[in-house]
Amino acid sequence: MASLLAAALISLAILPSINGHSSAAYTCDTYTIPLKNLSAPSFDLTFEIKTQWDITDWTINEARRDSSTAFNGVAGPITVVGDFDISARFCTPSTATTHSQTVLIWDPTFFGGEKYSLVQAALAAGYSVFHYDRLGTGQSTKADPHTVVQLPIQVEILASLTRLLLEHPSPYTLNASVTSAVHFGHSYGSYITAGLASAYPELTQAISLSGYSGVFDYFNILIAGWQSRVAALLDPARWGHLQSGYVTPVDVNADAYLEFKTPFFDHAVAEWATSIKSPFAIGELTTLGQTPYDTSNFSKPVQVFQGRYDLSACGGNCDGVLDRTALLWPKATPFNITGTFPAGHSVNWHYNATQAFAVMLDFVLQNV
Ligand SMILES: *[C@@H]1O[C@H](CO)[C@@H](O)[C@H](O)[C@H]1NC(C)=O
Ligand SMILES: *[C@@H]1O[C@H](CO)[C@@H](O)[C@H](O)[C@H]1NC(C)=O
Ligand SMILES: *[C@@H]1O[C@H](CO)[C@@H](O)[C@H](O)[C@H]1NC(C)=O
Ligand SMILES: *[C@@H]1O[C@H](CO)[C@@H](O)[C@H](O)[C@H]1NC(C)=O
Ligand SMILES: *[C@@H]1O[C@H](CO)[C@@H](O)[C@H](O)[C@H]1NC(C)=O
Repeated sequence: MASLLAAALISLAILPSINGHSSAAYTCDTYTIPLKNLSAPSFDLTFEIKTQWDITDWTINEARRDSSTAFNGVAGPITVVGDFDISARFCTPSTATTHSQTVLIWDPTFFGGEKYSLVQAALAAGYSVFHYDRLGTGQSTKADPHTVVQLPIQVEILASLTRLLLEHPSPYTLNASVTSAVHFGHSYGSYITAGLASAYPELTQAISLSGYSGVFDYFNILIAGWQSRVAALLDPARWGHLQSGYVTPVDVNADAYLEFKTPFFDHAVAEWATSIKSPFAIGELTTLGQTPYDTSNFSKPVQVFQGRYDLSACGGNCDGVLDRTALLWPKATPFNITGTFPAGHSVNWHYNATQAFAVMLDFVLQNV
């Protein structure tokens, strides 16, 4: 097959704050946002994951050298319609405390985690921040992992959330007057963000993508080494409530195989990342390469910020790969690309993350 991608991640919108640029203090609220009657063109799948034998065979099918012609897992088009609850958090600079139920990919809460937080870096720069658990992860609805949790519905959800934030007044912005949105995507969230840029360019002012190349050639390396398992069978105490189509890499080292590159990270951060991870829906990976959003008309600012050793996006070496990424965004103005950052896939969890955030936020400051 010609598809797939990576771990749990969030897309987030960053919005100019009414409070201007000043302190690191901020106020937040958490929400469960009900989205009603959302629909998206989706796919029936040709397989069902029920046991560890099923996911092992799926891994073989996805990883084999001729998977692009031998297996794509997709039967025919269907329309998914549903009501979904999305867990989210909005923060705006001011003076107050914070807590969150969301999966804290962008805002780690462990001791010393501030330097790995894009959320806190953005707040310190004076922006408001919204982040959420994508469908099927964290506290958001655990919808059917085969036929419902797929890429197109995730794009519709991001579009709906963005519209709600841009409403005046919005119930989700602590009365801050939000006038525009910038979208940050990481890993799978980058593909959701690219889908938004393609289908609803009017909803965003600029996008920043990491853990992304748009090139699908190296996903079999990821799938082979990731060694996914049915989450509910792997750890019933933690994930027994999930349907069998929710799967996850087998252990902390399989997680790190995708996310990290030695010697640019702290093992304790990798262990923390595993402790907060959410299994992913098999439908997300299977449909990623089947819904190639055409981004060739998107003319707003686009940033691609890559760890040099990104496994899933670049096959472990981004040198020379990102020229092909640029071809996917021919009209982006400017198109800002970095491929030499000393990290693997998850730039936000490597030692130099604060420098990555500074470049991302400066890109917003310069172009929005
Ligand atoms: C759901 O949306 C469809 C269009 O996408 C519309 O035809 C239908 O009436 C809506 N249903 C409800 C209950 O709002
Ligand atoms: C937002 O403004 C409304 C109307 O002034 C007020 O009732 C509400 O408490 C405010 N909400 C927050 C979170 O400040
Ligand atoms: C891009 O814009 C051109 C000219 O308006 C249009 O013909 C084409 O269909 C657009 N492509 C996409 C993928 O939207
Ligand atoms: C990246 O982080 C390492 C470890 O903290 C540090 O020694 C190095 O100077 C940093 N690199 C840059 C370019 O700042
Ligand atoms: C990308 O944007 C960053 C932040 O504004 C800037 O420092 C860097 O020079 C830009 N890179 C390119 C290639 O334009």
